[in-house]
Amino acid sequence: MKGKIPQAFISDLIERTDIVSLIGSRVALRKSGYQYIACCPFHNEKTPSFTVNPQKQFYHCFGCGTHGNAISFLIAFDHLNFVEAVGELAKQAGVLIPGEEGQSLSINQKLYDLLAFAASFYAAQLRKYINHQYIKTFIQRRGLTESIIDKFQVGLALPYWDGLLKAIPSPLKPHIKNSGLIINRGEKPSYDRFRNRLIFPIHNRQGKIIGFGGRLLEDHPTYPKYLNSPETPFFHKRRELYGLYQVIQASHNHEKLLVVEGYMDVLTLFNHGIEYAVATLGTATTVDHLTRLFQIASTIVFCFDGDNAGKKAAWHALEVVLPLLSQGREIQFIFLPYGEDPDSLVRSKGRNTFEEYIEGAQPLSEVLLSTIKEKVNLYSIDGRARLVELAWPLICKIPSGIYRDMLLLHLAEIAKIEYNVLVNRLEAKKNNSTIISQELKKNKSKENISTPIQKIITILIQNPHLIALVPKDFSLDGVVGLDVELLSSIIKLLIDKPNSSTGVLLEHWRNSGLNPYLEQLVKKELFITDENIAVELESTINCLKKQIAGKQATVLANHLALSDTEQNKLRALLTVR
Ligand code: GTP
Ligand code: MN
Repeated sequence: MKGKIPQAFISDLIERTDIVSLIGSRVALRKSGYQYIACCPFHNEKTPSFTVNPQKQFYHCFGCGTHGNAISFLIAFDHLNFVEAVGELAKQAGVLIPGEEGQSLSINQKLYDLLAFAASFYAAQLRKYINHQYIKTFIQRRGLTESIIDKFQVGLALPYWDGLLKAIPSPLKPHIKNSGLIINRGEKPSYDRFRNRLIFPIHNRQGKIIGFGGRLLEDHPTYPKYLNSPETPFFHKRRELYGLYQVIQASHNHEKLLVVEGYMDVLTLFNHGIEYAVATLGTATTVDHLTRLFQIASTIVFCFDGDNAGKKAAWHALEVVLPLLSQGREIQFIFLPYGEDPDSLVRSKGRNTFEEYIEGAQPLSEVLLSTIKEKVNLYSIDGRARLVELAWPLICKIPSGIYRDMLLLHLAEIAKIEYNVLVNRLEAKKNNSTIISQELKKNKSKENISTPIQKIITILIQNPHLIALVPKDFSLDGVVGLDVELLSSIIKLLIDKPNSSTGVLLEHWRNSGLNPYLEQLVKKELFITDENIAVELESTINCLKKQIAGKQATVLANHLALSDTEQNKLRALLTVR
């Protein structure tokens, strides 16, 4: 299509366009010397490296390298295609796009006209037949009011094969092919795509109709319940959102938007005064959807069914949105009760209850971590390592900033790893996600207790009075790890309150993620007789002391100016102890 618009016209259009006001109407620009600057809208940053140069009619970002002119900006920022971008500039400049043969009206406009014609044709039919019993029943059951029907230009396709085809005025006929409204037989337009359906026109953000959805009025064994326009030059269903235009019309100042699954959900929510819901068009959430939504509001609430399919869809949306989560943006999720969708729920429970659901939406961090938590056993060291392994690549996708840090902090808490240890490890070896697991495995036994630290924890938890046998100078300095932390806390607690029972110890950790792990240890069979338990504790403590001393000696040995052979010899000697 690009070739159809003369190059001279495009150059002229760019000359006429004031790139500063074009970009300035979408991005907060600040004057700085001869140019304007802003935080780049195409990547996440805190200090502005995006510049707009009015003399050159050019923008450039020193951070991410993106650059271009007014047309490329519209393509990138507004997600327009080339022809749409030229059209937008032409509209702003108040000029018409010349066709190659000197036609003054763009082909695009005629296609828009045809789609608008079809929408009014369907709308007129609905008005005409609205009192027919089976249409009336459907509309009444859904509680759709006249004002909602008007606002969304809901229409009706009768059960005929060529109702629309026959009605299209001759001047618009050449555009049938690109409209998606009529199905061809061979090369010839043959019959209406939408028949016997309630029709939902889909508007673009400027309010122009670009496609349609249609719902069967009566169940049919082979026809799909919903039918959408096919992909056309105007209609890309992975980009568009049903209701977006009406949402923008309802307010220019939305704090949050709700994303639902169906046309009917949007209509019914509007019907009940919830005028900030949009629906995807039977596709999974895409980056384009989210980019558009974040241009309108900073909080997006996804509404899914509470079943497995809903959870899967939520997880998909979550993965898509992570790279877009720059400062100030927020994503939340609602999972509806089984068998309900927003349409049925708001009809049966009303607006207030539905808005309570929205208020109680789960933040992304919660959904992310709880979904991963379900996949691992948090009470084993291995499980927590796995948790970190699973979460890390996802958290990596989030642009750096407070949000990501908070999520990491939360992860560290759940995994019982010190935040700094977690971050340093992960930063050092970003691509090697097994590192954490190796780190944790060092201290790990298969199923049985085998490391001295674990054994001491288990003995103390089961026999708190044996704290008396732990030497006063016992120190865990020089070793790190999850178990070390736990053991230190137990010892400290028992030194402070030597009469604490197992129950008191458990109580102390009851609300922490460690509780089930500790309970597991309480039940653990040690295969040691009661008489021998004290001896076992003392010898394990000695064994641990040696291990710690050995570790410290090894560290020191590495610092000594010894030759490799001497170092090896020293190490060998140390292990003999
Ligand atoms: P109602 O039954 O009218 O309440 O519709 P619903 O929105 O509850 O239907 P459902 O949950 O089955 O579908 C949600 C959305 O998925 C719809 O709005 C459509 O966009 C899409 N969809 C559902 N069924 C079909 C189908 O058969 N074909 C296509 N292409 N899309 C469908
Ligand atoms: Mn429904």
